[in-house]
Amino acid sequence: MRLFSLLLALLLPLPAFAQADRLVDEHSYAEPSKVRISHLALDLEVDFDKRQLAGSATFDLQWADPAARELVLDTRDLEIAKVEGRTGNRKWRELDFSLAEADPRFGSKLTITLPRQFAQVRVTYLTSPQASGLQWLAPGMTAGGKTPFMFSQSQAIHARSWVPLQDTPSVRFTYTARIKTPPSVMALMSADNEPAALRDGDYSFEMPQAIPSYLMAIAAGDLVFKPISPRAGVWAEPQTVDRAVKEFEDTEKMIEVTEQLYGPYRWGRYDLLILPPSFPFGGMENPRLSFITPTVIAGDKSLVSLIAHELAHSWSGNLVTNATWKDMWLNEGFTSYVENRIVEALYGKERADMEFVNSRNGLLEEMKQVPVAQQVLMLPARAGSDPEEALGAVAYDKGAWFLQFLEQRYGREAFDPFLRAWFDQHAFQSATSEQFLAFLEAELMAKNPGKVTREEVLAWMTQPGIPDNAPRIESPRLAAVDAARADWLGDRKAARELPTAAWTTQEWVYFLEGLPATLEPDRLVELDQAFRFTGTGNGEIAQRWYPLSERSQYFEARPAMSLFLRKIGRRKLIMPTYEALASTEDGLAFATQIFAMARPGYHPITIGSVEALLTKARAALEAAPQ
Ligand code: BES
Ligand code: ZN
Repeated sequence: MRLFSLLLALLLPLPAFAQADRLVDEHSYAEPSKVRISHLALDLEVDFDKRQLAGSATFDLQWADPAARELVLDTRDLEIAKVEGRTGNRKWRELDFSLAEADPRFGSKLTITLPRQFAQVRVTYLTSPQASGLQWLAPGMTAGGKTPFMFSQSQAIHARSWVPLQDTPSVRFTYTARIKTPPSVMALMSADNEPAALRDGDYSFEMPQAIPSYLMAIAAGDLVFKPISPRAGVWAEPQTVDRAVKEFEDTEKMIEVTEQLYGPYRWGRYDLLILPPSFPFGGMENPRLSFITPTVIAGDKSLVSLIAHELAHSWSGNLVTNATWKDMWLNEGFTSYVENRIVEALYGKERADMEFVNSRNGLLEEMKQVPVAQQVLMLPARAGSDPEEALGAVAYDKGAWFLQFLEQRYGREAFDPFLRAWFDQHAFQSATSEQFLAFLEAELMAKNPGKVTREEVLAWMTQPGIPDNAPRIESPRLAAVDAARADWLGDRKAARELPTAAWTTQEWVYFLEGLPATLEPDRLVELDQAFRFTGTGNGEIAQRWYPLSERSQYFEARPAMSLFLRKIGRRKLIMPTYEALASTEDGLAFATQIFAMARPGYHPITIGSVEALLTKARAALEAAPQ
């Protein structure tokens, strides 16, 4: 590993601030400088009773180091039954392997020893019912209530819990899969899902474009398809599919707008899979099949920027991929920028600006808690760090803000073609911040001298905080919300008299975010009578209303809050409410009760987050003087 990074450091002229270690993926045991997986053939059976996947993964290998005789793979909680190797069509030959003791963050290193450099290795294995990258739902947890459901969430390092892999975004491979399920169950993957596929429990998939491991995805359940356009459509449970098609009917237009800006969509079909509400994220950009939370079906298309975001990853992330998680902003910051451009093109600048301002305020709020070392876009190498640490507003919103800064200085005439060239020239490759910096200097700064200095760029990429030169977008519609809020807080107007008739989700979010941390309970009664926040079906509003009501001791909201926390497993939406509850003894007891009920329906990732929060809160309360 070290030798490899030194070699790379010699090849790429590294700027002085970068360390050679940044090129190494410390979140994977794999040794891609010696051998790389180029193709994966999966053969798995989905067992809903045992909550297990069972079968084999066969790898085509490309050996880079002539002396190498080991293949090291990442695994987590896998039971390895057998490992074999062969070259060409010869007989499979059993190989020695050792599975190291598990590290809580990275899992178990699987070392396979080969007598010579076989062209293929096959691993026969079984997943654990607790696999961190899979959720198994009993029929009762689905909309239809009759068929079980399962789905994967591989990013960042959970693919290794359902496939043994070189689980690093610096390695790309193509894949094929044969998946067997009970006959009434439909299976889908991040591959060539056939809209008219026969539902018979035996499915074959092909992903001919090389992808990194975190984009491996599978789902199975009572799933039906409805088209949006010839190349786009929705997979969902029958109960949800029509609402989803209506809500996301602009998806084809989104693809077209993005193609105009950044070149052709290169993945064939683009479908959406609507998951049950326990899906722990808003969306996941699995290629050809974005996984989507049902909580964005608001009924008025007000939350479809999430679709724009996952679609945008088809360029930023899936086509050009961060080589390690330290450069996550290359995925998420670029995607948040592109998302905003799509929203602007389709829904106008007013809406795009409101969304940008709300995200920016979220970033500034979050940064108050983020250690300075983690406020930079190019994160330094840190052994043992959890890749989820890179998953904050800094990568997303500071990243997007930096690109907006470049756009403003160079103008769209120069910046749009530049970004398109970045995607084109690095298509199907993994890239580092150092490469982006070099490309920026050669293709934009050198060709348009005098607009941005290297110091300004480095301040964005390597310094904490937000540079003073950051563009400050203003939103007149949000300024009107400020005025309305001030009128109500200053007792000049009752809640009912506020001019809210035409407000969209973005305005409501901004209104709630700008309220004081606590209010008198009778003031919340007034808001609730005027706007019916308690029990809202809009998750973005619920995410902000329930913590406010808890902090303000407006306990009338608790029954609806409890329903919300038990129904929804999307972390971003529910964590703020758990946090508000956990700050008082009585609230913590209530949260503990809710969690006990909700837990069987939560995803392992959500269970982990809520459990950590409640444990910490208990310790804090015990330590506090009575
Ligand atoms: N790729 C992310 C989700 C992700 C990131 C999962 C890191 C695991 C580790 C996805 O594209 C995303 O950003 N989703 C956001 C929504 C988006 C509109 C900001 C989410 O889930 O909230
Ligand atoms: Zn994203």
